Amino acid sequence: MNKETRKAVIAGNWKMNKTPSETTALINEMKPLVADANCDVVLCVPFIDIAAAVEAAKGSNIKIGAENVHFKESGAYTGEVSAAMLKEAGVEYVVIGHSERRTYFGETDQTVNLRTLAALNAGLKPIICVGETLEQRELGYTETLLKFQTKMALTNVSAEDMKNVIIAYEPVWAIGTGVTATDDQADEGNGFVRAALLEKYGKDVAEATTIQYGGSMNAKNAESLVAKYNVDGGLIGGASLKAEDFSIIVKAASK
Ligand code: PGA
Repeated sequence: MNKETRKAVIAGNWKMNKTPSETTALINEMKPLVADANCDVVLCVPFIDIAAAVEAAKGSNIKIGAENVHFKESGAYTGEVSAAMLKEAGVEYVVIGHSERRTYFGETDQTVNLRTLAALNAGLKPIICVGETLEQRELGYTETLLKFQTKMALTNVSAEDMKNVIIAYEPVWAIGTGVTATDDQADEGNGFVRAALLEKYGKDVAEATTIQYGGSMNAKNAESLVAKYNVDGGLIGGASLKAEDFSIIVKAASK
């Protein structure tokens, strides 16, 4: 198996942007622009926008994701949302362990793992984010860190479950900064993640798993990034809020 047989997935991560009515308008604008995509197209939206997003995306090739999920099935966890709730609402994917959650909301490798298991258990597809800070890169820890984060996130995740797992390599220094990793840096980082999968699961899983790049991917740089052997699409923040830009990225990944 090689890049040609792996599925490219372009996923938007809207972060804390768009109200429900704005969600409907943006998805309606995007639908015709991405209709002939030859890759999977996902929009991960705030919890409050999920109902509007699912409704607006109905009958199209756009799939809806959430931006987080709690790891308990139910209970006294004020303000949290369970995997079963997301599933019933029509969500198919969920971003887990985004660096903004790790930085601002106390997310750890352990809670990333628990959320991943909860998502898989409910039939959701986790998009697990890993990535090094600039300081870690400069100290030479990128490979060690990416392998560690990847393996920790996948504790007790079976080879069979890996069919439903996407990993996004997102260097923290490239997120929302306009500083994109070079094509080679992205390929190398994704390659470290793939090497961790090889060590943990063997060749078949390592070669079959979709590994995205994320961090200031945009309409201009997407084509050369997704052309790299280890880059199977992207997790897109800022550029996923503009229909035209997002559709150009989808087209780049459809080639
Ligand atoms: P960005 O965000 O594209 O705005 O850098 C990427 C992400 O956070 O997933």
